[in-house]
Amino acid sequence: MTGLLDLAVVVPTFNERDNVATLVARLDQALGGRRWEVIFVDDDSPDGTADAVRDLGRVDARVRVIQRIGRRGLSSACVEGMCATAAPLVAVIDGDLQHDETLLPQMAALLVDDPALELVVGSRFMAGGGTGAWDRDRVSKSALATRLSRRVLKAELSDPMSGFFMIRTAVLRQVAPLLSAIGFKILLDIMTARARPLVFAELPYTFRIRTAGESKLDHVVAMEYLIALYDRRFGRFVPVRFAMFSAIGALGVGLHMAVLSLLYVAAGASFLAAQIVATVVAMTGNFLLNNTLTYRDRRLRGWRQLVDGWVSFCLVCSVGAAANIGVAAFLHDVREGAWAASALAGVLVGAVWNYALSSRFTWGRY
Ligand code: GDD
Ligand code: MN
Repeated sequence: MTGLLDLAVVVPTFNERDNVATLVARLDQALGGRRWEVIFVDDDSPDGTADAVRDLGRVDARVRVIQRIGRRGLSSACVEGMCATAAPLVAVIDGDLQHDETLLPQMAALLVDDPALELVVGSRFMAGGGTGAWDRDRVSKSALATRLSRRVLKAELSDPMSGFFMIRTAVLRQVAPLLSAIGFKILLDIMTARARPLVFAELPYTFRIRTAGESKLDHVVAMEYLIALYDRRFGRFVPVRFAMFSAIGALGVGLHMAVLSLLYVAAGASFLAAQIVATVVAMTGNFLLNNTLTYRDRRLRGWRQLVDGWVSFCLVCSVGAAANIGVAAFLHDVREGAWAASALAGVLVGAVWNYALSSRFTWGRY
């Protein structure tokens, strides 16, 4: 023991109250003889995970919690936890006991022995590793995700989806500003952040089955994975959020036309009334979709936040519509023949306006 803090373990948690104490006890066992600390990064879990960690922290100062309010996301939680330690090495491990904490000393030893090494990854898919009791469905999904990742990853990682690894904190701080921190795929994000992939080693382990709490890997997480891949390949040209916002905007146009034709053509309402209802329906639909998809990590919840958000979104979009029409009319005046190009320029200006202001005023406040 050197007396200096040498290792931090970051544990992202969401509803893992019943696993916290066991994990800390197991870390204590595995890391005996070292100076270490554990940082739980909890997204304000309703089950009181953060309180459970604080209870332990009062008797053991090595145990800390970062409680994030109004935020969600595994990757961003890991990044914030890793940036919160003074230790030179930091590991990320799941809070549900599925990762094998007894691997940590070996991971640390590799990094200490070889100064050129930057990262050690726990792998389920190399000789000696395994996925334990996974069903066929999960195995094939994981294999598909791994294959897709090869398109952005320029390194031969056997388990790029792994959520279990150890990295030098100096390296992490260097790449942190380059991370997209979307969704679950923190390791992939770190590996592809720099032009040159990180120098890594892999150690095998067997993924355990979960005994308490439940998995948060759902369809939205799968979608976020695709988004993260998009971000790495094209995000430089068109930011992910803007692409999603625009795609949802296009859906909104479809919804608007559908409601308009239903009311005006089919039900015989006046054009003005039909147009007003269609606009409100489309704006509300877009607000809700953006709230669950584009801004999932800053999602507005509860009636008050939703109503406030909806009002500000409608205000922003009204100004956006005025800008759209103004720009299109101006360009059309300048070049009479270019009506389609003028209209498209108007739509683009409106979209950028709506995106920029709603990210600030609708989803930027909590
Ligand atoms: N702070 C925070 N915020 N933590 C979260 C969030 C979130 O939004 N979502 C999940 N977590 C925590 C969980 O509480 C758990 O400690 C850990 O992240 C992993 O989440 P699980 O829901 O248990 O994921 P999994 O077991 O299905 O997925 C595992 O395998 C994947 C590969 O197949 C994880 O290790 C993933 O990282 C890995 O990619
Ligand atoms: Mn899990």
